Formats: sequence, structure tokens, C-alpha cells
Amino acid sequence: MPAPVDIAPARGKLGVLLVGMGAVSTTTIAGVCAIRKGLAKPIGSLTQMGTVRLGKRTEGRSPKITDVVPLSALDDLVFGGWDIFQDDCYAAARTAGVIEPSLLEQVRGELEKIKPWPAVFDRRYVKRLDGPNVKKGRNKKDLADQVAADIRKFQADHRLDRLVMVWCGSTEAFMTEAPSHQSVEAFERGLEENDPAIPSSMIYAYAAIREGIPYANAAPNLSADIPALVALAAQTGSPLAGKDLKTGQTLIKTIIAPGLKARLLGVEGWYSTNILGNRDGEVLDDPESFKTKEESKKSVLDYILQPQLYPDLYDHLCHVVRINYYPPRGDNKEGWDNIDLVGWLGYPMQLKINFLCRDSILAAPIVLDVALFLDLARRANMHGIQEWLSFYFKSPVHAPGLYPEHDLFIQLMKLKNTLRFLRGEELITHLGREYYD
Ligand SMILES: NC(=O)c1ccc[n+]([C@@H]2O[C@H](COP(=O)([O-])OP(=O)(O)OC[C@H]3O[C@@H](n4cnc5c(N)ncnc54)[C@H](O)[C@@H]3O)[C@@H](O)[C@H]2O)c1
Repeated sequence: MPAPVDIAPARGKLGVLLVGMGAVSTTTIAGVCAIRKGLAKPIGSLTQMGTVRLGKRTEGRSPKITDVVPLSALDDLVFGGWDIFQDDCYAAARTAGVIEPSLLEQVRGELEKIKPWPAVFDRRYVKRLDGPNVKKGRNKKDLADQVAADIRKFQADHRLDRLVMVWCGSTEAFMTEAPSHQSVEAFERGLEENDPAIPSSMIYAYAAIREGIPYANAAPNLSADIPALVALAAQTGSPLAGKDLKTGQTLIKTIIAPGLKARLLGVEGWYSTNILGNRDGEVLDDPESFKTKEESKKSVLDYILQPQLYPDLYDHLCHVVRINYYPPRGDNKEGWDNIDLVGWLGYPMQLKINFLCRDSILAAPIVLDVALFLDLARRANMHGIQEWLSFYFKSPVHAPGLYPEHDLFIQLMKLKNTLRFLRGEELITHLGREYYD
């Protein structure tokens, strides 16, 4: 048996810093408060409900994940964050309209205490938004220092032991790597010189990573996924995860597509369309923000289906993704998928999926799990990209030269094997010959 990894205990309070107090953040915070009071169950959260099999199938050992690795208890979480609007977390949750008012009323006191700090924001990167609660600074370096000062004050005010940060802000305009993203020195020079290639999300990420705080990105914009911030994380010991929470249509896609490929059924076309009426939908109505999202949503099929290995089945796949902003639906997104399949002898078939989901209800347990697992990673001295958290993301961050793993079931196996590895338990390969020897 391998030796267990040394993990510092989850003692004291964990501060969860959320950038953006919109639908996802407020649903996460209100949900945790409701669960703490016994008003609801943490459905969808692996850290709260999941188990992990240890040893052989005949041993009957499947403890809860919380009994396998030391995770912060929900009672020890303290939330804080930034937004361009001044609404406290209760008012923001009412605006988001995800959780019904009667449940929100029961956690109102806790939520009203969470008032967002002024944000680092520039409309250049999110055209459809504007708000009054915004920091002013000499340059981007000064703004990063102001974010770090907010973090330190929050830590001192609440006597927090440790922190994690999750970007739950709006999707920023599409961007590719620029020269100032290539090294820590170039990035810091870019901050001083107000380089336009450094959007707001990178300023928060830099402030957190410089302090050694774990950082995750719930949105598809680059944020910490650049060589400079990955290198900084290696220096400061900060674990990283991202990008873009795997919810809704892409979650279903990464459940269905591995199954079709497993049975070698061809796919000629996959047409996905959505209607969404929340603020996220409004931001994504802007073509530049939509392009960031589109890239994130479209890449999954290429990697799962591997057309280079199966040209007869997937080489000419036509994959189309649309999002339409449709206010009457609010956060209750509706997605339609039409999949044109090909079977034995080339016979065509069709599969139609109509998913009436609740976006932030699917996203909130992910934010909670990612925050708790990143804090675990920090205490286990695992820094940099945490590929074992790919399970939660549409565009998983990965080492250069490696293709990302999108198959939900491989991702889950990787996550659970990482937990086994941390505890010095046997990794499970599912070979199973020993049962028949
Ligand atoms: N809901 C989901 O299931 C889901 C899934 C995957 C990804 N995401 C992504 O997560 C993010 C949040 O989604 P949401 O539904 O909560 O959106 P939302 O529009 O309700 O919330 C985003 C909040 O971020 C704030 N904001 C924007 N820029 C900011 C900045 N620079 N600093 C501080 N605050 C800022 C906005 O004012 C807004 O309140 C979006 O980027 C979305 O694409 C959401």
C-alpha cells in the first residue's frame, strides 16, 4: 500500500471569497446557510453526499468522502465577495430569483450581513454591464493591491484560518494569450502599465495567487489559465482549478457522448440550443462574451469522440451551439439537443433531449465542492493545476501539451483515485481478475 499524504487538519474557519454576487454565488451562499439550518439537503454535492469505495468489492468499505479526507465543515465557512452592484447578498439573491422567497426569508439575517466590496471592473471586458460599486486605482497593480487589502481585512475581521477564491463574475470578452501573460515579470509589468490584455478577472486571480490562496474560475474566460499565473502559483503554493462550471447542456453532453462512443455509434450532427433569461444570459447576448462561452462549450465533443481515431464515425461531425437571451425564463434555462446518429450499415437515427434545468441550482454544489477540495489541495501541498477537479468544468485546465479529459466518468474516476491516493489506499483500476482466481 502507498503511504498516505500528509494533510494538515481542516482546523478553524475557511473564508470563501466569491467574485461576483450574482445567481451562482447567491445560490451557493443561501444554499449553504439553508443546509446548515437543516432546511434543505446538499443535493448534487459530492463533498456532502458522495462516498468512495476503498479496497476490494468484497470488503464492503464505502465511507463518505468527508470521512476519508479532512474537509472543512459547512459551519466553518464564511463568505465574502465583490460586485459592481451594492446589493447585499439577500437583495442580490432576490434579484437572481433562483431560490424562492420563503426559503430566503429563513436565512435573510445571514445573507444581509454579506455586503459586496467595490469591484475591479472595466466595461471593455463585459460590454452589457455597468454598476456603481467599482474601485478606482492608479493602475492595475494598484487595483490588485486593493483586492489583496480587502482579503486581508476580511481574514482579520472574521479570524479566518484559510481562504479560497472562486471567480463567479460575468463571462469576459474572448481573449487569447498575449505577451504579458507569458511570465510573472511580464505580467507584473503589464499591471503597472495598464496592459489591456489584463482583464479584471486576472487582477483578482493575481491578488489571490500572490497570497498563496487557491483560485478557481467558474466562467470560461482565461483568468488564471495563463503561464504567468500558473508560474506564480508554483512559487506561492496556490492550487488552481477551472474553467467554466459543467452544468446544464454540457453536463448532459459529457454524459451522453461517452456512451455513444463506447458503443461505436457514429454522430453526424449535434445541434444544441438554449434559452436563458438571467443576467448571465444578457451578458452572453454580447457576441464577444458569447464567443468565450461558445469555444468552451464546443470543445468537449472533439475531445470525447476523438475523430482522429474514429474518422468513419466522427470526422464530419457538424456541432452547433446557440444561446438565446429570453428574459421570461429567468434562471430556468431550457436546452434542446438534436443528435443525428449513425448505426450498423450506416442507418440514421435521431436522439432528442429537452432539458428544463435550473442553471444555478446545478452550479451551486459545484462551487461548494471546488472550494472545499481546493482548500484540501492546499493543506495537502498540491499546488498549481488540479486536473483531478476536471469533473466540475467544461474547459478543464491542463498541463501544456496534454489534451483535456472531458469524459465525466473518467473525470470521476480520477477524482476518486486522487482521494484514495491522498489516504494511501489502493487505486481502483476495475480490472477485477482477483475475484475469479
Ligand atoms: N449558472 C451556471 O450554471 C453557470 C455555469 C457555468 C458557468 N457559469 C458562469 O458563472 C458566472 C456567473 O454566472 P451567474 O449566473 O451567477 O451570472 P450573474 O450575471 O447572475 O452574476 C455575475 C455577477 O458578477 C458581477 N460581476 C461582473 N464582473 C465583475 C467584476 N469584474 N467584479 C465583481 N463582480 C463582477 C455581476 O455584476 C453579477 O452580479 C458567469 O460567467 C457564467 O457564465 C455559470
